[in-house]
Amino acid sequence: MEELIRFLRTRRSVREYQNKDIEDKIIFEIIKSAMYAPSAHNKQPWEFFIVKNREKLNEIAKNHPYAKMLKKAPLCIVVLANTKKQPDSGYFSQDLSAATMNILLASWAYGIGSCWIGVYPKNERIEIVRNVLKIPEGFVPFSIVSLGYPKENPQTVERFDKKRIHTDIW
Ligand SMILES: Cc1cc2nc3c(=O)[nH]c(=O)nc-3n(C[C@H](O)[C@H](O)[C@H](O)COP(=O)(O)O)c2cc1C
Repeated sequence: MEELIRFLRTRRSVREYQNKDIEDKIIFEIIKSAMYAPSAHNKQPWEFFIVKNREKLNEIAKNHPYAKMLKKAPLCIVVLANTKKQPDSGYFSQDLSAATMNILLASWAYGIGSCWIGVYPKNERIEIVRNVLKIPEGFVPFSIVSLGYPKENPQTVERFDKKRIHTDIW
């Protein structure tokens, strides 16, 4: 139990990666974990696009303002909303956030560093990803997660702030 709590509190974004491949089997396990995220009405409105092609990774890095780490990442996973399954963007953004978070945590469990790269709801970023990966209408690029074995070890910083907790019991 304590180990799991420590695990949750020590996850950090990792943006520097070793030049080392991640086995497909592990990538599938990570995505499988994403599919266990909660979703409104259990619609599971997600699709996952694994990008390993160096030119495509570089193209996204070149055009997205905060995705430079993709130049050195061995791969990224793009999380997409299937708007037929969940047309309400308020819901699909929560569903896909939960799925994205599961990718970060599952990666961490395998010793793989990751960083959530924001896409939705910024239209220009959605279009960058849509164009590079040729994503058809009906699917909305929501987030990108860069992945790689860590070349840096960001330390955990204290974030607990009791003042942010509000209650009627004290
Ligand atoms: C919705 C969202 C969008 C983010 N977008 C980016 C991004 O575009 N580029 C980036 O380097 N980090 C991005 N991050 C990562 C945050 O910068 C990071 O989570 C935050 O600084 C806290 O650090 P930690 O993840 O190490 O705890 C994003 C995180 C979230 C939740």
